[in-house]
Amino acid sequence: MSENLGTMTDFSPDDSVMLKDVLRGLALPQKNIPSLYFYDQRGSELFDAITELPEYYPTRTEIGILERHGAEMAAALGPGVRLIELGSGSALKTELLLGRLEDPAAYVPVEISREHLLAAAARIAADFPDLEVMPVTADFTEPFDLPEPARRRVERNVAFFPGSTIGNFPRGMAADLLAATCREVGAGGAMLIGVDLVKDRATLERAYNDAAGVTAQFNLNLLVRLNRELGADFDVAAFRHQAVWDEDAARIEMRLVSTRAQRVQVAGRPFEFAAGEVLVTEYSHKYTPAVFRSLAEGAGFRVARTWTDPEGLFSVQLLEVPGAAQDSSGGT
Ligand code: AVI
Repeated sequence: MSENLGTMTDFSPDDSVMLKDVLRGLALPQKNIPSLYFYDQRGSELFDAITELPEYYPTRTEIGILERHGAEMAAALGPGVRLIELGSGSALKTELLLGRLEDPAAYVPVEISREHLLAAAARIAADFPDLEVMPVTADFTEPFDLPEPARRRVERNVAFFPGSTIGNFPRGMAADLLAATCREVGAGGAMLIGVDLVKDRATLERAYNDAAGVTAQFNLNLLVRLNRELGADFDVAAFRHQAVWDEDAARIEMRLVSTRAQRVQVAGRPFEFAAGEVLVTEYSHKYTPAVFRSLAEGAGFRVARTWTDPEGLFSVQLLEVPGAAQDSSGGT
């Protein structure tokens, strides 16, 4: 193991949180399960496979933007950055940024899937032997303490949130998350965030209904997980994947549709599904630059820069917190 890889700080929620969330969501008139629960080991692997699908444009488009403009982004962030990656997953895009930062103070990947976190942290520590890598297992929507690097002074906290994961939060929760991140990075801090843009229905629906059926497997794997981890008895073959663009709400809605009337038990509690009834498993909101700007400003950031691809499919935005960076060296 690399010397620069710190011990993992563990703030992971316990399993009872998942059970509570699932029971609450299934009891609502519009049944839903938070999309956070897609990401067990298999779900994370399937998501990685989605990012390579020809129809799923967000990942390769964002990588193209980071490749083309990464040097400008790094220059705008400056030296001594403590880079905090929210929901780091496999951290495949991180190196495009880390490799260009001037003398970064530390890399703090924050991720709920422990296996993914450790594998990614070990890879980055090996690739950047001078960098302190300080992994944190946590649900990044809850407050967590930032680990302090031992070797370098932090000049600026920067949250890195690529992939348009912000789109998976309902508007109010997205606003809360941005406001919490604004507080976490503090005065003078920044956030570099990937934001998927509103576009035509056909492109959007293709991206979430791929021909190879990987997104369908990803969606259905949620039920496999609930059966295994919560002792539920979903008949996975009696649900089918569906993803539709809701233009008014500016979001893709991912669903599992019950193909017949059925009763499902979760932790001894029965839930009835009618034939054709929809279980919502994910929202993926898309933004116009103007709508995202007002969301970011409402949370306390100012949009300092926006980079897009030539077709205007996706954006990477630099949000800054006004004010001078605080001295994080512990002095008074
Ligand atoms: C992680 N997140 C940004 C993906 C998205 O596009 O909303 C999750 C996903 N769901 C289906 N395909 C990909």
